[in-house]
Amino acid sequence: MSRLEQAAQNAVEIRNLTKKFGSVTVIDDVSFTVKRGETVTLLGPSGCGKTTTLRCIAGLEEPTSGFIQIGDTLAFDGKANFELEPEKRNVGMVFQSYAIWPHMTVGENVRFPLDIKKLPQKERRDRVAEILKSVGLGDYVDRPASQLSGGQQQRVALARALVFEPSVVLFDEPLSNLDANLRDHMRNELQDLQARIGFTAIYVTHDQREALSLSDEVIVMNGGRIDQVGPPEEVFAHPKTVFTARFLGCSNIFKGRMSAPQEHGRLSISVAPEMTFSGRHHGDEPSIGTEMAVVIRSNKIRISQSQGVAEAGAQHFAGLVESKVFFGSYVEYGLRIGGLHVKADCDVGTPYNVGENVFVAIHPSDCLVVRV
Ligand SMILES: Nc1ncnc2c1ncn2[C@@H]1O[C@H](COP(=O)(O)OP(=O)(O)O)[C@@H](O)[C@H]1O
Ligand SMILES: [Mg+2]
Repeated sequence: MSRLEQAAQNAVEIRNLTKKFGSVTVIDDVSFTVKRGETVTLLGPSGCGKTTTLRCIAGLEEPTSGFIQIGDTLAFDGKANFELEPEKRNVGMVFQSYAIWPHMTVGENVRFPLDIKKLPQKERRDRVAEILKSVGLGDYVDRPASQLSGGQQQRVALARALVFEPSVVLFDEPLSNLDANLRDHMRNELQDLQARIGFTAIYVTHDQREALSLSDEVIVMNGGRIDQVGPPEEVFAHPKTVFTARFLGCSNIFKGRMSAPQEHGRLSISVAPEMTFSGRHHGDEPSIGTEMAVVIRSNKIRISQSQGVAEAGAQHFAGLVESKVFFGSYVEYGLRIGGLHVKADCDVGTPYNVGENVFVAIHPSDCLVVRV
């Protein structure tokens, strides 16, 4: 595909975006693209620069340097000293808590962006009717917005963001103020609407479940920089850094040093005296002595009461049960293996008790070696 054809497929292109507030750099040389119809998520902890990135795209914040193109329209080019006004950028926005106006009807809420654009009245009516129908609220035009359920409010906010056919919709943590049950419900519904309408989106969240379930691509951000980019399955299964591994819920992370040359595609990482893990690695082979970390998901640690149930190819360790906590659908054991504290999630009903000596099996394919 030529560069021109590629550009035509991109709804958003961000290159070398940097934003400083005074002397503090909050976005540091960030580049990514969003293809038409796809959802890309910026995932990272509070303060890592997610909202500032969205505000730069929307034109509410002026970048310090970089390049932003939205659809066929150049929005910002630091080198050319060019900045397009926000209202000309063709960007829809959905905010935290949705910001639906309760004193207006559903139709008035959704029509608002068209009123600002002063479209002909008939076109406003037609477009509102059409978009409300596509989000499943066709019969709600004259309903007061104050009477809507949470899920319906989400649909109104989405309809309002989509009604002028934006190149991209920006979502800034829309679900983060909701309680857990409602959040799950709304996330499912958003997924459904995505599949049905096929809009292009940049979605910002600190919640890994939202990022994994809603995105075609996840961008993990750390301190204003991109740590890792990839499809959800890939960043979950193959984190490349300790930061991404931890942010995606890996609880067993042990720092150590590369102790032997790669063998059968496995690296040996010595994490403590007489404690070496063999694990898989993506990327160039590090040199002997390089500081690396071993990452093991807690549901990949197998416990047994006798050494007899050894698993073929696994690494075996003697362990001591230090804690046992019931979490409903699983039991989390805290184990001590040599000098390490290890978390193991097991089925409910597993019989190990605090203070008991057990055997622990960990398969090298479940050990990931990542950069520190
Ligand atoms: N207008 C501003 N002036 C100074 N610092 C700001 C401003 N807006 C955001 N920041 C800082 O930029 C960093 C990134 O903020 P933000 O983009 O809101 O992060 P996130 O949305 O990931 O939580 C934070 O340290 C925040 O304090
Ligand atoms: Mg934010």
